[in-house]
Amino acid sequence: MQNESSKGSNLGLIATMGALHEGHISLIKRGQKECSQVIVSIYVNPTQFENSNDLINYPKSLDNDIDILKSLNIDFLFIPNQELMYPNGLVSKTFDLDGIDKKLEGAMRPGHFQGVATAVDRLFELIQPDKAYFGLKDFQQVQIIKKLSLLKGGTPEIIACKIIREDSGLAMSSRNSRLKVKELKAAASIFKALKFAEKEVKVFTASPAALIQEMKSIINSTGLIKVEEITFAFSDNLDIISDPDFPLDHYNKKVHCFISAYARDIRLIDNHFIC
Ligand code: PAJ
Repeated sequence: MQNESSKGSNLGLIATMGALHEGHISLIKRGQKECSQVIVSIYVNPTQFENSNDLINYPKSLDNDIDILKSLNIDFLFIPNQELMYPNGLVSKTFDLDGIDKKLEGAMRPGHFQGVATAVDRLFELIQPDKAYFGLKDFQQVQIIKKLSLLKGGTPEIIACKIIREDSGLAMSSRNSRLKVKELKAAASIFKALKFAEKEVKVFTASPAALIQEMKSIINSTGLIKVEEITFAFSDNLDIISDPDFPLDHYNKKVHCFISAYARDIRLIDNHFIC
């Protein structure tokens, strides 16, 4: 039985696109610890996919998702249809996201974050949660949604949750279910490269350019995973660090590294705190 007095009476939302895995489950469990009631939404949001094949190929496993959610004993499952999510037609709204939506992932996937914000805004409007839980696997998405919540007066409170990884280090992702066994193994090189950079910065005053070259080679040498982009950026405002030579640990600010890579047409992303 839930202890209303320690949690108060509050509703926590975990927004997902389904194909649930341990990453999603960790958000749900955190929500259950902190909220008296938890609602999980499943909606594959078309406006955040700028590539129609990516949308078509997005993994779907609703029966399995429902089994997982039943075993977790969540309070509500919300599976809205397109008419409910987009009553005025399938288009993104435009939010003033302080330009965060144009950086990093936003530069590679134009319109992606306005699509995310549109769907999440609608979920907030329909569900009216007190808290909403998002994973740092999508580091930039967390910042976008914090900004969105501020635009709406600060509710819901946005809770950022740590990245859940496979034993190999690979960040869990719904898209991993599309990887072949060999690709799954090779994809562990993404986190290996991130850990390499973190370690290297502690030991040497390595230049960003040299680090990126080494990291690319760690990943690309698998032959199965191909780097799209490796970027260092400041953790707080996501401004890209463009000086190829200035050592990362000489900035007086926290630095993150962001990687996007492909296994065939399957896009994988990860990020890690460097220094
Ligand atoms: P989806 O990719 O299903 O992810 C739902 C939530 O789970 C997000 O907050 C995401 O960051 C988190 N998550 C995914 N993998 C994780 C991992 N390995 N560790 C921790 N958290 C993880 O993100 C979306 O859906 C959509 O953009 C959405 C917010 C639902 C809007 O459509």
